[in-house]
Amino acid sequence: MEYVRKTDNQGNIIRFKRFQGRCFNKDIPGNVGDQLEKVANLQCRPDDVLLCTYPKSGTHWLFNTARMLQMGIIQYSGTPEMIEHQDLRVIDNMKFPRMFHTHLNYQFIPKMAKDGQLKIIYLVRNPKDVACSSHIFQSKLQNASYTGNFDGFLNAFLSEEFLGYDGSWFTHTKEWNTARLTNPDLKILFLKFEDMKKNLHTNIVQIAKFLEVNDEERFLKKVEEAVGFENLKKEHATRLGESDRWKHLGDNGRMPIYRKGIVGDWKTKFTVAQNEKFDEVFEEKMEDISASLDIVYE
Ligand code: A3P
Repeated sequence: MEYVRKTDNQGNIIRFKRFQGRCFNKDIPGNVGDQLEKVANLQCRPDDVLLCTYPKSGTHWLFNTARMLQMGIIQYSGTPEMIEHQDLRVIDNMKFPRMFHTHLNYQFIPKMAKDGQLKIIYLVRNPKDVACSSHIFQSKLQNASYTGNFDGFLNAFLSEEFLGYDGSWFTHTKEWNTARLTNPDLKILFLKFEDMKKNLHTNIVQIAKFLEVNDEERFLKKVEEAVGFENLKKEHATRLGESDRWKHLGDNGRMPIYRKGIVGDWKTKFTVAQNEKFDEVFEEKMEDISASLDIVYE
């Protein structure tokens, strides 16, 4: 494992861990390999639920929604436990039914998840809004994985050596999309951020059915109300979520998650040239799967 600190030609700084030629988030503990092995061998149960997302795709929104449905109660749950950043004894000791999360690419998830021995919910968001959300998030962190301007950020985002969990948004999305289409053992629900924005209720019904939990209309309506952007933002700002890790931040030591929560914010940040370059790379990298993904940008 090699700790990499790169400076681009504009003076922007990118930090990550390189393991077996691949790029991983610098905050994955130790030499990366040991943690990946523990994750792969995580012991799971049929009532476990694994949430999978690329960073800034609506993880907290999905978690709070799915967790209320899984538990059958309207209760804010904060931030999910992430298996690649965690001492896995924390996951072993969680109360059942468990719900945990990963940003890792498909190939690194627990073997039992690949065999269909627990349920997976995957949430994808359009990469332009992901990039926009991610740059603002990074700019609020101390010791961030990226420090610098948006142009440099976008160049790094379009490459494979970025703050990912084995490659770019493109690699992540491609691998997950291929897995869901080709592995018949997977118990997976594939969702889109933009669909959730457009019709949250339908998505909540889908999640409840997938989890085989209470799907009574009155309860689902309450969940829908509770996970609205303003509600989650308020809960996050006032209840759970304070931690030493984020104490340097302005918002009372909480991770800066709830920002705008809209589709199409990228239009306020991308220049025409940046947008054209992005589209070119998207075409090139996603050519073979863009039809089966149908990414929506506004
Ligand atoms: P923006 O930065 O574009 O506002 P994650 O949880 O994966 O870090 O994702 C964070 C993104 O999800 C942020 O996007 C945040 O505002 C958005 N988000 C969180 N809860 C939301 C909700 N209830 N409705 C819409 N967007 C939400």
